[in-house]
Amino acid sequence: MSSDHRLGLRPATTEHTDKSLQVDGEIPSWLDGTLVRNGPGSFAVGDRRVNHWFDGLAMLRRFAIDDGEVRYTNRFLRSRQFRHVREHSRLRLREFGTDPQWRGLGRLRRFGTRVATDNASVDVVYLGGRHLAATETPRWTAYDPETLRTRGPREFDDEVGRAGPLAHVHYDPFREETVGVATRFGLRSEYLVYRVPDGNERREVLAHIPIHQPGYLHSFALTPNYIALLVPPLRTTPLALLRDRPFVESYRWQPERGMRIFVVDRESGELVTNARTAPCFVFHHVNAFEREGALHLDVAAFEDASVVDAFRLDAFDSSDFSPPGAELRRLQIGLASGHVVARTLHPGHVEFPTIHYARHNTRPYRYVYGVGTEERSPQGFSDRILKVDLKERSGQFQTSETWTEPNVYPGEPLFVPRESPQADGERGDDVAEDDGVLLSVVLDADAERSFLLVLDAATMAERARAVFSKPIPFDFHGQFYRTGERPTRSMA
Ligand SMILES: [Fe+2]
Repeated sequence: MSSDHRLGLRPATTEHTDKSLQVDGEIPSWLDGTLVRNGPGSFAVGDRRVNHWFDGLAMLRRFAIDDGEVRYTNRFLRSRQFRHVREHSRLRLREFGTDPQWRGLGRLRRFGTRVATDNASVDVVYLGGRHLAATETPRWTAYDPETLRTRGPREFDDEVGRAGPLAHVHYDPFREETVGVATRFGLRSEYLVYRVPDGNERREVLAHIPIHQPGYLHSFALTPNYIALLVPPLRTTPLALLRDRPFVESYRWQPERGMRIFVVDRESGELVTNARTAPCFVFHHVNAFEREGALHLDVAAFEDASVVDAFRLDAFDSSDFSPPGAELRRLQIGLASGHVVARTLHPGHVEFPTIHYARHNTRPYRYVYGVGTEERSPQGFSDRILKVDLKERSGQFQTSETWTEPNVYPGEPLFVPRESPQADGERGDDVAEDDGVLLSVVLDADAERSFLLVLDAATMAERARAVFSKPIPFDFHGQFYRTGERPTRSMA
Protein backbone atom coordinates (compact mmCIF):
# COMPACT_ATOMS: atom_id res chain seq x y z
CA MET A 1 0.00 0.00 0.00
CA SER A 2 1.25 3.41 -0.84
CA SER A 3 2.06 5.59 2.07
CA ASP A 4 3.22 8.88 0.67
CA HIS A 5 1.86 12.23 -0.47
CA ARG A 6 -0.49 10.57 -2.98
CA LEU A 7 -2.95 9.83 -0.19
CA GLY A 8 -3.74 13.57 -0.35
CA LEU A 9 -5.17 13.04 -3.82
CA ARG A 10 -7.53 10.27 -2.76
CA PRO A 11 -11.15 11.43 -3.07
CA ALA A 12 -13.33 12.16 -0.07
CA THR A 13 -16.14 9.61 -0.26
CA THR A 14 -18.30 10.68 2.68
CA GLU A 15 -19.75 13.97 3.82
CA HIS A 16 -19.53 14.33 7.58
CA THR A 17 -21.49 16.68 9.81
CA ASP A 18 -19.97 17.84 13.07
CA LYS A 19 -17.93 14.68 13.47
CA SER A 20 -16.12 14.86 16.76
CA LEU A 21 -12.35 14.46 16.37
CA GLN A 22 -9.99 12.92 18.89
CA VAL A 23 -7.79 15.65 20.36
CA ASP A 24 -4.24 14.84 21.47
CA GLY A 25 -2.61 17.59 23.51
CA GLU A 26 -4.33 20.72 24.69
CA ILE A 27 -5.99 23.30 22.48
CA PRO A 28 -5.57 26.77 23.99
CA SER A 29 -8.76 27.78 25.78
CA TRP A 30 -8.85 31.13 23.94
CA LEU A 31 -9.04 29.44 20.54
CA ASP A 32 -12.76 29.62 19.83
CA GLY A 33 -14.06 29.75 16.28
CA THR A 34 -14.17 27.95 12.96
CA LEU A 35 -11.53 27.21 10.40
CA VAL A 36 -13.14 26.99 6.96
CA ARG A 37 -11.02 25.64 4.13
CA ASN A 38 -11.57 25.09 0.43
CA GLY A 39 -9.95 22.78 -2.08
CA PRO A 40 -10.62 19.85 -4.36
CA GLY A 41 -12.39 16.86 -2.85
CA SER A 42 -12.51 14.52 -5.83
CA PHE A 43 -10.93 14.35 -9.27
CA ALA A 44 -13.15 11.72 -10.86
CA VAL A 45 -15.33 12.47 -13.86
CA GLY A 46 -17.02 9.20 -14.71
CA ASP A 47 -14.25 6.70 -15.22
CA ARG A 48 -11.71 9.40 -16.00
CA ARG A 49 -9.98 12.09 -14.02
CA VAL A 50 -9.50 15.81 -14.55
CA ASN A 51 -6.00 16.75 -15.74
CA HIS A 52 -4.93 19.12 -13.00
CA TRP A 53 -4.89 19.43 -9.20
CA PHE A 54 -6.68 22.78 -9.53
CA ASP A 55 -9.62 21.16 -11.35
CA GLY A 56 -10.95 18.81 -8.67
CA LEU A 57 -14.53 19.29 -7.48
CA ALA A 58 -14.67 21.89 -4.73
CA MET A 59 -15.18 20.64 -1.20
CA LEU A 60 -15.54 22.92 1.80
CA ARG A 61 -14.19 21.73 5.13
CA ARG A 62 -14.97 23.18 8.53
CA PHE A 63 -13.18 22.61 11.80
CA ALA A 64 -15.29 24.02 14.63
CA ILE A 65 -13.11 24.63 17.69
CA ASP A 66 -14.87 25.18 20.98
CA ASP A 67 -13.69 24.63 24.54
CA GLY A 68 -10.82 22.38 23.52
CA GLU A 69 -12.95 20.21 21.24
CA VAL A 70 -12.97 19.97 17.46
CA ARG A 71 -15.81 18.95 15.15
CA TYR A 72 -15.31 18.31 11.44
CA THR A 73 -17.81 18.95 8.63
CA ASN A 74 -17.20 18.60 4.89
CA ARG A 75 -19.51 19.30 1.94
CA PHE A 76 -18.96 19.27 -1.77
CA LEU A 77 -20.09 22.51 -3.37
CA ARG A 78 -23.28 21.83 -5.36
CA SER A 79 -22.12 23.79 -8.38
CA ARG A 80 -23.54 23.26 -11.87
CA GLN A 81 -20.27 21.56 -12.69
CA PHE A 82 -20.60 19.21 -9.70
CA ARG A 83 -24.20 18.27 -10.55
CA HIS A 84 -23.34 17.70 -14.18
CA VAL A 85 -20.42 15.48 -13.33
CA ARG A 86 -22.51 13.43 -10.91
CA GLU A 87 -25.44 13.08 -13.34
CA HIS A 88 -23.66 12.70 -16.67
CA SER A 89 -20.11 11.64 -15.76
CA ARG A 90 -18.81 14.52 -17.84
CA LEU A 91 -17.61 18.05 -17.27
CA ARG A 92 -19.98 20.77 -18.39
CA LEU A 93 -17.71 23.76 -18.03
CA ARG A 94 -14.11 24.62 -18.81
CA GLU A 95 -11.70 24.21 -15.90
CA PHE A 96 -8.23 25.66 -15.36
CA GLY A 97 -6.46 22.65 -16.89
CA THR A 98 -9.27 20.47 -18.25
CA ASP A 99 -11.75 21.00 -21.07
CA PRO A 100 -15.21 19.41 -21.26
CA GLN A 101 -14.36 17.94 -24.68
CA TRP A 102 -17.38 19.17 -26.56
CA ARG A 103 -18.37 17.15 -29.57
CA GLY A 104 -20.65 17.75 -32.56
CA LEU A 105 -23.42 20.20 -31.79
CA GLY A 106 -22.03 20.78 -28.36
CA ARG A 107 -19.06 22.42 -29.96
CA LEU A 108 -21.34 24.92 -31.69
CA ARG A 109 -23.43 25.52 -28.61
CA ARG A 110 -20.32 26.45 -26.76
CA PHE A 111 -20.31 29.88 -28.31
CA GLY A 112 -23.74 30.62 -26.89
CA THR A 113 -22.98 29.16 -23.49
CA ARG A 114 -21.25 30.63 -20.54
CA VAL A 115 -18.34 28.27 -20.30
CA ALA A 116 -16.51 29.53 -17.23
CA THR A 117 -16.59 27.05 -14.36
CA ASP A 118 -18.54 27.60 -11.15
CA ASN A 119 -16.50 24.91 -9.41
CA ALA A 120 -15.20 27.40 -6.84
CA SER A 121 -12.40 25.51 -5.10
CA VAL A 122 -9.72 28.12 -4.40
CA ASP A 123 -10.62 30.20 -1.35
CA VAL A 124 -13.43 31.45 0.86
CA VAL A 125 -14.36 35.14 0.97
CA TYR A 126 -16.73 37.04 3.25
CA LEU A 127 -18.17 39.86 1.17
CA GLY A 128 -21.33 41.92 1.34
CA GLY A 129 -22.57 39.94 4.33
CA ARG A 130 -22.25 36.59 2.59
CA HIS A 131 -19.88 33.66 2.81
CA LEU A 132 -18.65 32.77 -0.67
CA ALA A 133 -16.59 30.03 -2.22
CA ALA A 134 -14.27 31.83 -4.64
CA THR A 135 -12.50 30.96 -7.85
CA GLU A 136 -10.93 32.76 -10.81
CA THR A 137 -14.12 33.02 -12.83
CA PRO A 138 -17.08 35.37 -12.17
CA ARG A 139 -19.12 32.45 -10.86
CA TRP A 140 -18.68 32.43 -7.10
CA THR A 141 -21.02 30.44 -4.85
CA ALA A 142 -22.65 31.32 -1.53
CA TYR A 143 -22.61 28.76 1.27
CA ASP A 144 -23.97 28.44 4.78
CA PRO A 145 -21.06 28.88 7.21
CA GLU A 146 -22.67 26.58 9.81
CA THR A 147 -23.62 23.61 7.64
CA LEU A 148 -21.44 24.30 4.57
CA ARG A 149 -24.53 23.69 2.44
CA THR A 150 -24.54 25.45 -0.91
CA ARG A 151 -26.89 28.44 -0.99
CA GLY A 152 -26.54 29.21 -4.69
CA PRO A 153 -24.64 31.22 -7.25
CA ARG A 154 -23.42 34.67 -6.35
CA GLU A 155 -22.99 36.37 -9.65
CA PHE A 156 -22.23 40.06 -9.40
CA ASP A 157 -24.15 42.61 -11.42
CA ASP A 158 -21.83 45.56 -11.01
CA GLU A 159 -19.03 47.55 -12.60
CA VAL A 160 -16.60 44.64 -12.65
CA GLY A 161 -19.25 42.64 -14.46
CA ARG A 162 -18.04 39.38 -15.93
CA ALA A 163 -14.34 40.10 -15.78
CA GLY A 164 -12.35 37.20 -14.30
CA PRO A 165 -11.61 38.03 -10.66
CA LEU A 166 -8.68 36.81 -8.64
CA ALA A 167 -9.85 34.40 -5.93
CA HIS A 168 -7.50 36.16 -3.49
CA VAL A 169 -8.77 39.49 -2.21
CA HIS A 170 -7.43 41.75 0.53
CA TYR A 171 -9.31 43.09 3.49
CA ASP A 172 -8.03 46.36 4.93
CA PRO A 173 -9.33 46.88 8.48
CA PHE A 174 -7.83 50.36 8.61
CA ARG A 175 -9.89 51.59 5.66
CA GLU A 176 -12.67 49.05 6.29
CA GLU A 177 -12.83 47.84 2.73
CA THR A 178 -12.16 44.77 0.62
CA VAL A 179 -9.89 45.30 -2.39
CA GLY A 180 -9.76 43.01 -5.40
CA VAL A 181 -8.47 42.67 -8.94
CA ALA A 182 -10.01 41.19 -12.07
CA THR A 183 -8.93 40.65 -15.65
CA ARG A 184 -11.25 41.69 -18.46
CA PHE A 185 -10.33 39.78 -21.60
CA GLY A 186 -11.26 41.31 -24.94
CA LEU A 187 -9.96 43.18 -27.93
CA ARG A 188 -8.78 45.74 -25.41
CA SER A 189 -7.94 43.69 -22.35
CA GLU A 190 -7.46 45.36 -19.01
CA TYR A 191 -6.93 44.73 -15.34
CA LEU A 192 -9.59 46.19 -13.09
CA VAL A 193 -8.85 47.16 -9.50
CA TYR A 194 -11.99 47.32 -7.38
CA ARG A 195 -13.02 48.06 -3.82
CA VAL A 196 -16.01 47.09 -1.70
CA PRO A 197 -16.45 49.32 1.36
CA ASP A 198 -17.86 47.52 4.41
CA GLY A 199 -21.65 47.41 4.31
CA ASN A 200 -21.73 47.47 0.50
CA GLU A 201 -22.15 44.66 -1.95
CA ARG A 202 -21.19 46.29 -5.21
CA ARG A 203 -17.65 46.32 -6.49
CA GLU A 204 -16.59 49.86 -7.40
CA VAL A 205 -13.90 50.03 -10.05
CA LEU A 206 -11.00 52.12 -8.84
CA ALA A 207 -8.62 51.70 -11.77
CA HIS A 208 -8.46 50.35 -15.31
CA ILE A 209 -5.03 49.18 -16.46
CA PRO A 210 -4.87 48.35 -20.18
CA ILE A 211 -2.82 45.26 -20.97
CA HIS A 212 -2.29 44.00 -24.49
CA GLN A 213 -1.53 40.39 -23.60
CA PRO A 214 -2.75 39.74 -20.05
CA GLY A 215 -0.38 37.86 -17.74
CA TYR A 216 -1.74 35.29 -15.32
CA LEU A 217 -2.44 36.83 -11.92
CA HIS A 218 -3.29 34.85 -8.79
CA SER A 219 -2.81 37.41 -6.00
CA PHE A 220 -1.63 41.02 -5.57
CA ALA A 221 -0.09 43.40 -3.05
CA LEU A 222 -1.74 46.06 -0.93
CA THR A 223 -0.17 48.87 1.12
CA PRO A 224 -1.87 51.80 2.89
CA ASN A 225 -1.67 53.96 -0.24
CA TYR A 226 -1.03 51.61 -3.15
CA ILE A 227 -2.05 48.45 -4.94
CA ALA A 228 0.67 46.60 -6.84
CA LEU A 229 0.21 44.00 -9.57
CA LEU A 230 3.11 41.75 -10.48
CA VAL A 231 2.45 40.57 -14.01
CA PRO A 232 4.55 37.52 -14.87
CA PRO A 233 5.48 36.76 -18.47
CA LEU A 234 2.92 33.96 -18.59
CA ARG A 235 0.77 35.73 -21.17
CA THR A 236 -2.33 35.07 -23.23
CA THR A 237 -4.40 36.73 -25.95
CA PRO A 238 -8.20 36.89 -26.30
CA LEU A 239 -7.92 34.80 -29.45
CA ALA A 240 -6.00 32.09 -27.65
CA LEU A 241 -8.70 31.97 -24.98
CA LEU A 242 -11.39 31.32 -27.60
CA ARG A 243 -9.74 28.15 -28.76
CA ASP A 244 -10.94 24.76 -27.58
CA ARG A 245 -8.53 24.09 -24.81
CA PRO A 246 -8.22 24.47 -21.06
CA PHE A 247 -7.77 27.97 -19.67
CA VAL A 248 -4.14 27.63 -18.69
CA GLU A 249 -3.07 26.13 -22.01
CA SER A 250 -3.91 29.46 -23.63
CA TYR A 251 -0.97 30.97 -21.79
CA ARG A 252 2.64 30.99 -22.98
CA TRP A 253 5.81 31.63 -20.98
CA GLN A 254 7.58 34.58 -22.61
CA PRO A 255 10.53 35.37 -20.32
CA GLU A 256 11.86 38.04 -22.66
CA ARG A 257 8.97 40.21 -21.52
CA GLY A 258 10.26 40.23 -17.94
CA MET A 259 8.04 40.86 -14.91
CA ARG A 260 5.86 43.96 -15.23
CA ILE A 261 4.92 45.80 -12.06
CA PHE A 262 1.96 48.17 -12.01
CA VAL A 263 1.47 50.39 -8.97
CA VAL A 264 -1.90 52.12 -8.54
CA ASP A 265 -2.71 54.95 -6.12
CA ARG A 266 -5.61 53.80 -3.92
CA GLU A 267 -7.00 57.32 -3.59
CA SER A 268 -6.91 58.55 -7.17
CA GLY A 269 -6.85 55.24 -9.04
CA GLU A 270 -3.93 56.54 -11.12
CA LEU A 271 -1.14 54.32 -12.33
CA VAL A 272 1.84 55.85 -10.54
CA THR A 273 4.59 53.37 -11.38
CA ASN A 274 5.05 51.05 -14.34
CA ALA A 275 8.23 49.07 -13.79
CA ARG A 276 9.90 46.04 -15.28
CA THR A 277 12.26 43.52 -13.73
CA ALA A 278 13.69 40.04 -14.29
CA PRO A 279 11.11 37.33 -15.04
CA CYS A 280 9.75 35.06 -12.35
CA PHE A 281 6.42 33.44 -11.59
CA VAL A 282 4.32 34.18 -8.53
CA PHE A 283 1.18 32.61 -7.17
CA HIS A 284 1.30 34.20 -3.75
CA HIS A 285 2.24 37.53 -2.35
CA VAL A 286 3.31 37.38 1.28
CA ASN A 287 2.94 41.00 2.35
CA ALA A 288 3.86 44.52 1.24
CA PHE A 289 4.63 47.83 2.89
CA GLU A 290 5.88 51.34 2.14
CA ARG A 291 9.21 52.66 3.31
CA GLU A 292 11.19 55.74 2.27
CA GLY A 293 9.61 56.28 -1.13
CA ALA A 294 9.66 52.63 -2.07
CA LEU A 295 7.29 49.72 -2.00
CA HIS A 296 8.57 46.50 -0.48
CA LEU A 297 6.79 43.53 -2.01
CA ASP A 298 7.45 40.10 -0.51
CA VAL A 299 6.52 37.15 -2.69
CA ALA A 300 7.02 33.41 -3.09
CA ALA A 301 8.91 33.52 -6.39
CA PHE A 302 9.37 30.61 -8.81
CA GLU A 303 12.06 30.88 -11.47
CA ASP A 304 9.51 30.19 -14.17
CA ALA A 305 5.94 28.91 -14.65
CA SER A 306 6.87 25.23 -14.82
CA VAL A 307 5.18 24.78 -11.43
CA VAL A 308 1.81 25.09 -13.19
CA ASP A 309 2.47 21.96 -15.24
CA ALA A 310 4.12 20.24 -12.29
CA PHE A 311 0.73 20.04 -10.58
CA ARG A 312 -0.91 18.16 -13.41
CA LEU A 313 -2.33 15.04 -11.77
CA ASP A 314 -0.24 12.61 -13.81
CA ALA A 315 2.91 14.23 -12.38
CA PHE A 316 1.55 14.95 -8.89
CA ASP A 317 0.21 11.42 -8.51
CA SER A 318 3.58 9.72 -8.91
CA SER A 319 5.85 8.50 -6.14
CA ASP A 320 8.84 10.60 -7.24
CA PHE A 321 6.87 13.84 -7.48
CA SER A 322 9.29 16.72 -7.12
CA PRO A 323 7.84 20.09 -8.13
CA PRO A 324 9.96 23.24 -8.43
CA GLY A 325 10.28 25.35 -5.30
CA ALA A 326 9.64 29.05 -4.67
CA GLU A 327 11.98 31.26 -2.70
CA LEU A 328 10.93 34.06 -0.42
CA ARG A 329 11.94 37.21 -2.30
CA ARG A 330 11.62 40.93 -1.62
CA LEU A 331 11.18 43.34 -4.52
CA GLN A 332 11.91 46.91 -3.58
CA ILE A 333 10.37 49.33 -6.10
CA GLY A 334 11.17 53.02 -6.18
CA LEU A 335 7.82 54.79 -6.50
CA ALA A 336 9.27 57.71 -8.43
CA SER A 337 12.05 55.94 -10.31
CA GLY A 338 10.45 52.57 -10.98
CA HIS A 339 13.85 51.11 -10.12
CA VAL A 340 13.55 47.53 -8.81
CA VAL A 341 15.94 45.76 -6.46
CA ALA A 342 15.35 42.07 -5.72
CA ARG A 343 16.65 40.25 -2.69
CA THR A 344 16.33 36.69 -1.39
CA LEU A 345 14.85 36.56 2.11
CA HIS A 346 14.99 32.82 2.57
CA PRO A 347 17.01 30.44 0.41
CA GLY A 348 14.67 27.48 0.26
CA HIS A 349 11.21 26.55 -0.85
CA VAL A 350 8.33 28.42 0.82
CA GLU A 351 4.74 28.37 -0.40
CA PHE A 352 1.26 29.04 0.98
CA PRO A 353 2.79 31.97 2.89
CA THR A 354 0.89 33.53 5.77
CA ILE A 355 1.50 36.33 8.27
CA HIS A 356 -0.22 37.97 11.24
CA TYR A 357 -2.60 39.34 8.65
CA ALA A 358 -5.04 41.21 10.88
CA ARG A 359 -2.35 43.43 12.32
CA HIS A 360 0.49 43.44 9.79
CA ASN A 361 -1.00 43.18 6.33
CA THR A 362 0.09 46.33 4.43
CA ARG A 363 2.52 47.15 7.29
CA PRO A 364 6.11 46.31 8.21
CA TYR A 365 6.29 42.88 9.81
CA ARG A 366 8.71 40.30 11.05
CA TYR A 367 7.42 36.74 10.62
CA VAL A 368 6.42 34.69 7.60
CA TYR A 369 4.91 31.22 7.97
CA GLY A 370 4.49 28.73 5.17
CA VAL A 371 5.05 25.20 4.01
CA GLY A 372 8.36 24.19 2.52
CA THR A 373 11.12 21.68 2.15
CA GLU A 374 14.57 21.20 3.54
CA GLU A 375 16.46 24.47 3.38
CA ARG A 376 18.28 25.09 0.09
CA SER A 377 16.57 22.12 -1.50
CA PRO A 378 15.38 23.59 -4.78
CA GLN A 379 12.68 21.01 -5.35
CA GLY A 380 10.30 18.70 -3.59
CA PHE A 381 6.81 18.58 -2.18
CA SER A 382 6.34 20.53 1.03
CA ASP A 383 6.84 18.34 4.07
CA ARG A 384 7.24 20.87 6.87
CA ILE A 385 5.90 24.10 8.30
CA LEU A 386 8.37 26.97 8.35
CA LYS A 387 8.66 30.19 10.26
CA VAL A 388 11.03 32.75 8.77
CA ASP A 389 12.23 35.66 10.88
CA LEU A 390 12.79 38.71 8.68
CA LYS A 391 14.64 40.66 11.33
CA GLU A 392 18.11 41.24 9.98
CA ARG A 393 21.13 40.53 12.11
CA SER A 394 24.56 41.39 10.75
CA GLY A 395 23.08 41.71 7.29
CA GLN A 396 21.64 38.19 7.45
CA PHE A 397 18.09 37.02 7.90
CA GLN A 398 17.47 34.32 10.44
CA THR A 399 17.22 30.78 9.18
CA SER A 400 13.79 29.43 9.80
CA GLU A 401 12.37 27.33 12.57
CA THR A 402 10.42 24.33 11.42
CA TRP A 403 7.87 21.76 12.48
CA THR A 404 8.02 18.40 10.77
CA GLU A 405 7.70 14.66 11.32
CA PRO A 406 8.53 11.73 9.06
CA ASN A 407 6.22 11.42 6.07
CA VAL A 408 3.88 14.33 6.81
CA TYR A 409 2.50 16.82 4.27
CA PRO A 410 1.05 19.97 5.83
CA GLY A 411 -1.20 22.53 4.14
CA GLU A 412 -1.29 26.31 4.46
CA PRO A 413 -0.60 27.28 8.09
CA LEU A 414 -2.99 30.06 9.09
CA PHE A 415 -1.91 32.34 11.90
CA VAL A 416 -4.52 33.05 14.58
CA PRO A 417 -3.48 35.70 17.11
CA ARG A 418 -4.23 35.11 20.77
CA GLU A 419 -5.45 38.66 21.14
CA SER A 420 -8.39 39.40 18.93
CA PRO A 421 -7.55 42.54 16.90
CA GLN A 422 -11.26 43.38 16.82
CA ALA A 423 -11.78 42.96 20.55
CA ASP A 424 -8.69 45.08 21.16
CA GLY A 425 -10.11 47.96 19.22
CA GLU A 426 -6.57 49.23 18.91
CA ARG A 427 -3.62 47.62 17.23
CA GLY A 428 -2.12 46.16 20.36
CA ASP A 429 1.45 46.89 19.32
CA ASP A 430 2.73 45.77 22.69
CA VAL A 431 1.66 42.20 21.92
CA ALA A 432 4.33 40.06 20.24
CA GLU A 433 3.70 39.50 16.54
CA ASP A 434 3.93 35.71 16.94
CA ASP A 435 1.72 35.45 20.02
CA GLY A 436 -0.82 32.97 18.70
CA VAL A 437 -1.13 29.63 16.97
CA LEU A 438 -0.80 28.20 13.48
CA LEU A 439 -3.58 25.96 12.18
CA SER A 440 -2.72 23.53 9.40
CA VAL A 441 -4.40 20.41 8.03
CA VAL A 442 -1.64 17.81 7.84
CA LEU A 443 -1.60 14.50 5.97
CA ASP A 444 0.10 11.82 8.08
CA ALA A 445 0.96 9.37 5.31
CA ASP A 446 2.25 6.61 7.61
CA ALA A 447 -0.94 6.61 9.65
CA GLU A 448 -3.04 7.13 6.49
CA ARG A 449 -5.08 9.92 7.99
CA SER A 450 -5.10 13.70 8.34
CA PHE A 451 -5.18 15.89 11.40
CA LEU A 452 -5.70 19.50 12.28
CA LEU A 453 -2.42 20.66 13.80
CA VAL A 454 -2.29 23.45 16.37
CA LEU A 455 1.23 24.86 16.65
CA ASP A 456 2.47 27.51 19.04
CA ALA A 457 3.56 30.18 16.55
CA ALA A 458 6.16 31.61 18.93
CA THR A 459 8.03 28.34 19.56
CA MET A 460 6.77 26.16 16.65
CA ALA A 461 6.03 23.49 19.25
CA GLU A 462 2.93 21.38 18.89
CA ARG A 463 0.08 22.31 21.21
CA ALA A 464 -2.47 19.80 19.97
CA ARG A 465 -3.75 17.80 17.05
CA ALA A 466 -7.32 16.79 16.21
CA VAL A 467 -7.22 13.52 14.32
CA PHE A 468 -9.57 12.47 11.53
CA SER A 469 -9.91 8.78 10.65
CA LYS A 470 -8.87 9.08 6.99
CA PRO A 471 -6.79 11.25 4.69
CA ILE A 472 -8.45 14.56 3.82
CA PRO A 473 -7.63 15.63 0.24
CA PHE A 474 -5.03 18.43 0.04
CA ASP A 475 -6.68 21.84 0.14
CA PHE A 476 -5.67 25.32 -1.02
CA HIS A 477 -6.80 28.15 1.23
CA GLY A 478 -8.98 28.97 4.19
CA GLN A 479 -9.93 31.52 6.82
CA PHE A 480 -10.41 31.38 10.56
CA TYR A 481 -13.55 33.07 11.90
CA ARG A 482 -13.69 33.88 15.60
CA THR A 483 -16.91 33.05 17.38
CA GLY A 484 -19.00 36.14 18.06
CA GLU A 485 -17.04 38.47 15.80
CA ARG A 486 -17.54 39.83 12.33
CA PRO A 487 -15.79 37.42 9.97
CA THR A 488 -12.48 38.83 8.82
CA ARG A 489 -9.56 37.52 6.87
CA SER A 490 -6.63 35.49 8.21
CA MET A 491 -4.67 35.85 4.99
CA ALA A 492 -4.87 37.55 1.61
FE1 LIG B 1 -3.74 30.83 -3.92
